Amino acid sequence: MKLPLPFRSFTVLPKSFLGVDIGTSAVKIAEVKRWGGRKSLKNYAELQSSALYDKPFRTFERNTLVLSKQDIARVLKAILQEAKIQTKDALFSLPDFSSFFTHFELPPMTKEELPEAVAFEARRHVPLPLSEVTFDWQLLEGTFEQKTPLKILMVAVPKEIVNQYQEIANLAGLTLSGLEAEVFCIMRSCVNEEDKSSLALLDIGAQSTTVNIIAKRTLRVSHSVDVAGNSLTDRIAKSLSVDAKMAERYKFEKGMTDKNLALILSPMVDILLSELERVSKEFQQQGGKEVEKIILAGGTALLPGLREYVETTVKKPTSIANPFENLYYPPVLEQTLKNLGPSHAVAVGAALRGLQ
Ligand SMILES: Nc1ncnc2c1ncn2[C@@H]1O[C@H](COP(=O)(O)OP(=O)(O)OP(=O)(O)O)[C@@H](O)[C@H]1O
Ligand SMILES: [Mg+2]
Repeated sequence: MKLPLPFRSFTVLPKSFLGVDIGTSAVKIAEVKRWGGRKSLKNYAELQSSALYDKPFRTFERNTLVLSKQDIARVLKAILQEAKIQTKDALFSLPDFSSFFTHFELPPMTKEELPEAVAFEARRHVPLPLSEVTFDWQLLEGTFEQKTPLKILMVAVPKEIVNQYQEIANLAGLTLSGLEAEVFCIMRSCVNEEDKSSLALLDIGAQSTTVNIIAKRTLRVSHSVDVAGNSLTDRIAKSLSVDAKMAERYKFEKGMTDKNLALILSPMVDILLSELERVSKEFQQQGGKEVEKIILAGGTALLPGLREYVETTVKKPTSIANPFENLYYPPVLEQTLKNLGPSHAVAVGAALRGLQ
């Protein structure tokens, strides 16, 4: 699903494409290209906010980025220059909390009648005036031919946010080809095209975690909580009376493989798992199947021992997202990319949208 932008026009399909993820802790860029029949990774780059500012890149206060658009554009330019990236066509990911997801059912109707009915229904479901949002939708269930009720998934984003991203792209000298909610980017890069199972996709970043339920490759439920990597670092720092730097080091080096740290961290991780349980139940109440497996994405997916902890607690096969898996890249990068995979899942997925 991709939000329509009034200025979008694809006359010539670009060969290379950029995906840009402005995260709380870092800006990540992936560059992909078509190479013969294959999709290949051309470049990737990342810049941590801590390297430049004492503020996170992405903190929204009333829908406004705390860092100025100019600052973010400067960061983007620096990354593009440093990585010698020439590609200009870019798709930006939108933070999940700025996108509003909703489902609703419509009575049987024809394909031609549907767009107007969706627009009409949107009024009742979107908490903002329609003149202030850009929205996109997808038919989840039902068919026109058999005259069944139609289940719709709709995503709405405040126009103000769309405009901010447009301006950042302009200032950075990029052509904004579209915007897409993070969850759809990760789905594209990390869920196999043939995978029709019901699965939970957790994006555990620095500031927030989004718990998503996906079935038959469609997003069914999505919910964000403010517990993620930063909360884990804070908790270690408080519990062990160490500074944030030291806490971060313990987190990266030992994580949940250390008995004492596991005791400190598990209550935070359990918050995410109870959210997962709540969201799974909500999905089942809507008539969905039980979740069969779990995919962990976002930088915190790499917390040592986390995958094992989730797998034994939830008793479902759990894997770590690898968005590079289906891309061609030089084999020497294998290990490096495995470690970058979870945090680059959004940027890679956004870039891949351009090749579709
Ligand atoms: N190997 C690791 N072990 C533990 N934590 C890690 C590891 N690598 C990264 N992290 C943590 O992952 C977080 C960054 O993840 P990510 O890049 O997905 O965040 P973000 O997209 O900037 O944030 P958000 O999605 O919340 O806006 C940080 O809290 C960082 O400490
Ligand atoms: Mg993120």
